[in-house]
Amino acid sequence: MIEVSNLSKSFPSPDGEETIDIFNEVNLTVEEGSSVAIVGPSGSGKSTLLNMIGLLDLPTQGKIVVDQKDHALLSEEQVSEYRNQTVGFIFQSHHLLPSCTVLENVMLPGLAGFHDSAGGDLTGRAKQRLQEVGLDHRMNHLPSQISGGERQRVAVARSLINQPSVLLADEPTGALDQKNSDHLMDLLEQLNEEKLLTLILVTHSLDCAKRMKQSYHLKEGNLEKQR
Ligand SMILES: Nc1ncnc2c1ncn2[C@@H]1O[C@H](COP(=O)(O)OP(=O)(O)OP(=O)(O)O)[C@@H](O)[C@H]1O
Ligand SMILES: [Mg+2]
Repeated sequence: MIEVSNLSKSFPSPDGEETIDIFNEVNLTVEEGSSVAIVGPSGSGKSTLLNMIGLLDLPTQGKIVVDQKDHALLSEEQVSEYRNQTVGFIFQSHHLLPSCTVLENVMLPGLAGFHDSAGGDLTGRAKQRLQEVGLDHRMNHLPSQISGGERQRVAVARSLINQPSVLLADEPTGALDQKNSDHLMDLLEQLNEEKLLTLILVTHSLDCAKRMKQSYHLKEGNLEKQR
């Protein structure tokens, strides 16, 4: 369902005089309903890779095909729809809107003007998502009034509000204690098994990585399959 082929990414150096190659000719195939862990050292390009699959950044070279659609050939409207409806994104730095409450933050992606495939009652759905991550008692707080791990869980709830078919999760358990981390992994595994949610999980936790069906290691520009 997701096919990444010969993907390369370079960034200009801060003085603009040279380019820095992050990775070269990376290949990755993720079947629908599968779950994949991507591990690797800090700075190896894990977030950059997720951003490109989520259409938040463009590759320097190579191809990304999702649901038989080539990313490079999508119209502007298809790109927006893909970002809003097909993929859910849990960012490494949550990107919650500071002036919106927890509940409003979770509801936000559901307010976009696309066909609401997830069904009506956005508020009800948002409350349910918050309950699933154990935050229904913090619904009316602002992001500044909750803890870092709670913010991370709000980001998880928000990523699932439009019932995406692909979830791109960038270190979603990084700020969580063992119990909340286990609980989140249970939730993701359940969505993967019951709703066939395709999961790509970037993590530094080997415990979390082990719970995915496949695992890859990104190091020195190469993505190697581990199992
Ligand atoms: N916009 C940018 N301009 C220039 N260089 C960038 C840019 N974004 C990322 N990089 C560089 O690309 C490399 C990979 O960054 P990335 O955030 O993908 O790493 P990562 O594997 O997610 O690391 P971490 O585990 O610390 O989150 C880093 O060395 C970073 O400096
Ligand atoms: Mg990262």
